[in-house]
Amino acid sequence: MERVFNFAAGPATMPLEVLQSIEKNVCNFEGEGLSVMEMSHRSKTYEKIINETRDNLKKILELDDNFDILFLQGGASSQFAMVPLNLANNGDLTYYAVTGNFANKAWEEAKRWTNAVDITNSKPDKYKFIPKIDNSKLDKSAKYLHITANNTIFGTMYDKLPEVDIPLVADVSSNVLGKNYDYKKFALAYAGAQKNLGPAGLTVVVINKKFIREDIDTFVPTMFRYDIHAKNGSMYNTPPTFAIYVAGEMFKWVIREGGVKEIEKRNVEKAKILYDLIDNSTFYKPFAEKESRSIMNVTFNLPTEELEAKFVAEAKDEGMINLKGHRVLGGIRASIYNAMTIEGVKELAEFMQKFEKNNK
Ligand SMILES: Cc1ncc(COP(=O)(O)O)c(C=O)c1O
Repeated sequence: MERVFNFAAGPATMPLEVLQSIEKNVCNFEGEGLSVMEMSHRSKTYEKIINETRDNLKKILELDDNFDILFLQGGASSQFAMVPLNLANNGDLTYYAVTGNFANKAWEEAKRWTNAVDITNSKPDKYKFIPKIDNSKLDKSAKYLHITANNTIFGTMYDKLPEVDIPLVADVSSNVLGKNYDYKKFALAYAGAQKNLGPAGLTVVVINKKFIREDIDTFVPTMFRYDIHAKNGSMYNTPPTFAIYVAGEMFKWVIREGGVKEIEKRNVEKAKILYDLIDNSTFYKPFAEKESRSIMNVTFNLPTEELEAKFVAEAKDEGMINLKGHRVLGGIRASIYNAMTIEGVKELAEFMQKFEKNNK
């Protein structure tokens, strides 16, 4: 079977070897006579799967026992609400770096419960860059600063984490395990799995145990409390068992590939191929400012919307799909997550050169 190069922003491409190992086990997991999908989450076999998955992620992120990992549901969007409900009391000051659409959604959700203040200003510039955060201007009584580490729609990313004296919370949905941050610096980081971690339906939360509180307002639903999930090893209710198993296979792949540092190097190399091509062209126009560019989502425009539509259609004919930009921004977006191979990126670059020559 011929596989396409899938440049989707999420759910996104996965490594073929991971898919094949899942395929091999899908009806009969390691000779047990049933699928992981059919297995009790309380069985010895599943317990081993979830524990190994948690341990491997901790190993990959170089986290010690001060940190816990939770396997939840509800997507990153549920975290927009869980974070303020668990980390702040009603009316507390919280800071948000609103650097894009998802960051804005997180901020909107936080405003329901906290005095959430946006400390950034890139909206009038269409979120083209990541504004600097001035620690000296932050009130130290704030419960946390929330950042969106990679803005999937706009193609911007924090190259370095902001240095702040208040707890740092990050939505790492679209660059987790693709960009090497020091996760010990986070009070909490969360990600929907469907980009670098596996299938949709699983949300991973990395939390410093210091921030797991039990004195939470009684109105907060049980399923929205980190302490409940932590106490129950992410098994307060039935977890997304199959998605966790697949994420576990993804983590093993990351370890085999040399870990996040090695994968980041490759991602930088992949992104450079596309950015160099765009920078050296008068036909393609980059969207994000240079210092803020994402190594996961490369966003750019062509001279007209008609040419953009033609680009997307012709690329599809050549086996490169999902290059259309998000409806909020338009243009073209090439998402080149961990599983996108350098061959895929080179093929896209070749196509771009050919398209420019034929349409200039
Ligand atoms: C950075 C970021 N945050 C949040 C979300 C929303 O995630 P979910 O669909 O898992 O709720 C997305 C989705 O693409 C995203 O890219």
